Amino acid sequence: MNPGSLQIELMCELERLCYPETLAYDTFMMREFLREPGMLLVCEWHRGELVGFQLSDRKRATIITIDVHPGYRRQGIASRLMHRSLQILKAFHLKRISSQVAVDNISSLMLHFKFGFKIRQRLRNYYGFGNDAYLLVLEL
Ligand SMILES: CC(C)(COP(=O)(O)OP(=O)(O)OC[C@H]1O[C@@H](n2cnc3c(N)ncnc32)[C@H](O)[C@@H]1OP(=O)(O)O)[C@@H](O)C(=O)NCCC(=O)NCCS
Repeated sequence: MNPGSLQIELMCELERLCYPETLAYDTFMMREFLREPGMLLVCEWHRGELVGFQLSDRKRATIITIDVHPGYRRQGIASRLMHRSLQILKAFHLKRISSQVAVDNISSLMLHFKFGFKIRQRLRNYYGFGNDAYLLVLEL
């Protein structure tokens, strides 16, 4: 997986728009992720602007992040990203895929439920003290 520097910058810009500073992946972390084998990156563009992307890790069978630009939400972009990612992951014969979502992130939880993910476990303090996540799993 080898997107250029400009694309990585655009992805990190989206991260900053989507998450608090402490949780957004910076350029260094994004590069590290993308260097690893088995990474799957699916992007949505609109008139040359990166409006969404989903990064998944095929080897660990987990979704790393899904970002949609705030100005482009509720238009089905995340659904398209998720659909395409899951299709590719299925083609690699993965049996299940997991995802971690903050317990108060209703839009992301609803997105995952729409695709059939089920809550497997509550992960205490996953995003720092007092900020729990759900471990969600989809049997493919
Ligand atoms: C979560 C996120 C990716 C959804 O992106 P999106 O493009 O708006 O999602 P879609 O338009 O494809 O909606 C898919 C489903 O998600 C759910 N959903 C999305 N936004 C929602 C909201 N504000 N409230 C309730 N449900 C919502 C709905 O079930 C929707 O399906 P429907 O349109 O058939 O009802 C987007 O809000 C985002 O980038 N949030 C910030 C980053 C983030 O939290 N990422 C997930 C980390 S695990």
